[in-house]
Amino acid sequence: MKTIIANWKMNVGVRESVALARGTLLTLRGRKLVPELVVCPPFVALSEVRKVTARSHAALGAQNMSWEAQGAFTGEISPRMLEELGVSHVILGHSERRLLLLETDEMINKKVQKAMDHDLVVILCVGESKQQRDAGDHREVVKHQLLQALEGIRLKHADKLLVAYEPVWAIGTGQSAEVPDILEMHTFIKSVLTERFREVAGTALKVLYGGSVDAENAYSLLRETVVDGVLVGGASVKLNQFNEIIQAACEVLEAQS
Ligand code: PGA
Repeated sequence: MKTIIANWKMNVGVRESVALARGTLLTLRGRKLVPELVVCPPFVALSEVRKVTARSHAALGAQNMSWEAQGAFTGEISPRMLEELGVSHVILGHSERRLLLLETDEMINKKVQKAMDHDLVVILCVGESKQQRDAGDHREVVKHQLLQALEGIRLKHADKLLVAYEPVWAIGTGQSAEVPDILEMHTFIKSVLTERFREVAGTALKVLYGGSVDAENAYSLLRETVVDGVLVGGASVKLNQFNEIIQAACEVLEAQS
C-alpha cells in the first residue's frame, strides 16, 4: 500500500479547502486499488473538510499540534481538540516549523509522545539542509533527528508512525532529490527505525518522500518499493497536479498487484 499525504500548508482558506477535498476524492471514484490518502488542511478548515471526507476513503490530518492537554497556551491546538474534529493524523517536525518557528527536537519529541498517547498517527518529518548534505552529514543529521524525536517512544503498532524524509533544500524549490539518493536515505532511515523499534521488528515501518513531488516525478518515486508514499505540498493545492499524483499511485498499485 502506498500513502499520499496532501499538506495544504497556509495556502487555502475554508472554501478552497472544501473544493479541493471534493475534487481530490472524485479522482478515486471507480478505482479498485487506491492509495491511502490523508489530507491536511489548515486548522480552520478541518471541520468543514471533515464533512467531505467522512465516510470516504480519505483520512484527515492536522499540520501541527500542541504537546499540552489544555490551559493557558494562546493560539495552540490540543490533541483532544483534533480528536473532536475527527482528525486521525498529525504532521510533526516539519522543517518550516523547525526553521521559521524554532521548534526543537525536544519540543517535537513531546508532541510525538502526546500524539501517540491520543492514538493519532504521527507523520514525522526529518531532513537535512543543503549545507549538511554538501558536507556529507545528511545521514547523521537525519539519524539524530529521528532518535531525538522518538526518544522514549514505544510503538503500539507500526502503522502509528509514518516518517517523511524531506530534504530541506528540495521543499518548495521545484528541485526534487534524485531517486538514487532518496532510495539510499529511505533504506538508511528504515534501518535506524528497525534498530530503534525492536518491539515492532519485522513489520515494515513506512517511510515517505517529500520535497517538490509533482505530476512529473510521482510515478518514478512511487514505483520504488522502498518509497512507501509521498508527502506533497505545493502540488497538492493544484487539483490537476494532485489528481495526476494520485493516478500515478493507483497505476503503481495496479502494476504491482
Ligand atoms: P513541496 O512541500 O511539495 O511544496 O516541496 C513538501 C512539504 O513541505 O511537505
